[in-house]
Amino acid sequence: MSHPLQPGRLALGTASASFQIEGSSTADGRGVSIWDTFCERPGAIRDGGDGTRACESYTRLDEDVELVAGLGVEWYRFSIAWPRVVPEGTGRVEPRGLDYYDRLVDALLARGIAPTATLYHWDLPQPLEDAGGWLVRETAEAFAAYGAIVHERLGDRVRLWASHNEPWCAAYLGYAAGVHAPGRREGGDAHRAAHHLNLGHGLLRQALGDVEGLGIVCNLAPIWPEGEEAREVASRVDAIRNRVWLDPLVDGAYDDELLDVAPVLADPAVVRDGDLALIQGSADWLGINYYTPVRPALPSGGPAHTEGEAYPGAGAFDMVVREPRTDIGWEIDASGLEELLVQVHRRTGLPIVVTENGAACADTVIDADGVVDDQDRIDYLRDHLAATERAVAAGADVRGYFVWTLLDNFEWAEGYTKKFGLVRVDRDHGDLPRVPKASYRWVAQQAAERHA
Ligand code: NOJ
Repeated sequence: MSHPLQPGRLALGTASASFQIEGSSTADGRGVSIWDTFCERPGAIRDGGDGTRACESYTRLDEDVELVAGLGVEWYRFSIAWPRVVPEGTGRVEPRGLDYYDRLVDALLARGIAPTATLYHWDLPQPLEDAGGWLVRETAEAFAAYGAIVHERLGDRVRLWASHNEPWCAAYLGYAAGVHAPGRREGGDAHRAAHHLNLGHGLLRQALGDVEGLGIVCNLAPIWPEGEEAREVASRVDAIRNRVWLDPLVDGAYDDELLDVAPVLADPAVVRDGDLALIQGSADWLGINYYTPVRPALPSGGPAHTEGEAYPGAGAFDMVVREPRTDIGWEIDASGLEELLVQVHRRTGLPIVVTENGAACADTVIDADGVVDDQDRIDYLRDHLAATERAVAAGADVRGYFVWTLLDNFEWAEGYTKKFGLVRVDRDHGDLPRVPKASYRWVAQQAAERHA
């Protein structure tokens, strides 16, 4: 099978994730996920929102695929809800769940859009969490078995696969900071989750054999210490944010500094003989989700930034966030993307796709037809697409740039309060109308120019 990502071409796409858009959370035998449970925890979600309805994409498949087609982009990145396919996490397979993704893939292909599927975008089946979640090895084994089931059904038509989406968030926001599902605060034990996510990827590779097109999507970040004195803590932050994912893939090892920060990774009962060999060389491509740079500073003595808790073992530090910022409070700096792409290309040699990039904007300028005039989002996308092209010109093998996201959707702990969509989903109207924003037209124009 030839590689679906073509060298020397930057293909455009857009992206979504199952829990954020599908809704229908009890339909067709879907099991409960950790995000269903987490949403019920008082105070966990800013506006008290949940995924029961989301954007109704489970029942509005054709309408949403039509919106992707209208953008004229080549790729649509979506994720598969594990609890739709294997409702209890292991064992019984639910054919109706697989049927939905089968229809989605066929609908995309019928409109000339290449599908890329992510197997784990955070919706772990609750029974697996009850048995220990990502802190235990069995979850990695269950993941590989589930992935093989999905690949068996869709692998004839989906040729670009990702195992995990942003495993840093799954491990450290989920099991250390506790701000994402399952909402646990396990300190250094969260590093177990990181290893088991890596292992899950390696076991999936083993299960799929030498099929081409398997990658992993990470929210790697450029780490910019605030001053010389923050260099050491920044290096430890880099170990947890970036190297814990890249080193096993490239070197088949966790480095000494990481083992120091995360002693559990030196425990042979956790990282067993053969685990790292399984992970090394197991990705054909790498997805990078980029939004903002990370600037660690020595602690000022002020209240700790919650994200600091998401780097267990790194030591105390403050996170500096400079201006300008998007509506979610993340610093805007497109040069961070350029630097990251060049560095990661040098480090890994793998074909890269920018699998997510986009901006949360307030979207307050709305005309009489309901169209949002989101010039701020257009500026963000334009600058980051240009940064991607500069990285390509500097030799980075970047083959795709996918905008996060198609629809305004469930933004995790922020609920529905933060909007990243190219298409507005008007939650004040009962039938959740979709209205393309000015940024949708802008992306469509970029796609038209590139494909001309
Ligand atoms: C990261 C995640 O993959 C996605 O689910 C999320 O909505 C965006 N980035 C924005 O936070």
